Amino acid sequence: MSIQEKFIKAFKQEHQQILDRLLALKDAIEKTDTDLASNLVEELDQIMGPHFRVEEEALYPMLVEYLGDENVKELLSEHQRAVETLYNFKKCINNRTWLSQHREEALKKLQGFFMHVTGCDGLSIIIERFSEQQKAKLANHLDIVHSEAKPLTQWKSIY
Ligand SMILES: [Fe+2]
Repeated sequence: MSIQEKFIKAFKQEHQQILDRLLALKDAIEKTDTDLASNLVEELDQIMGPHFRVEEEALYPMLVEYLGDENVKELLSEHQRAVETLYNFKKCINNRTWLSQHREEALKKLQGFFMHVTGCDGLSIIIERFSEQQKAKLANHLDIVHSEAKPLTQWKSIY
């Protein structure tokens, strides 16, 4: 596989991994399975850290030319909302009482995640049209963020 193909493949694979865990998390929230929910939130924190980082540091700046400033800002706001939700889940989701009382709200937050991950995957049809040089830059940046492997809440400095 060429370095140019590498980014798209990893980008889409990560969306699959995120989606799998979000679907399992929805199920765990519905069943009040707090242990499973906590584990899934930890995994999401690990996967989404490098994923959001490569998007914000390398991909989004490249998208401004196609989507414009406002739409890229909206993508960043969606990330910010996802970070806040994940942080809140990390703090509270292992608490059965909290989960029973906030189930509807938690499921609604998850819907926001689903919207973002499906929309984000759709960006791949634009990325495919990027220059070879841009694709190589994305793949190189992906290697950097993976090697540093900072969880999302750590990268965003929310503990
Ligand atoms: Fe994404």
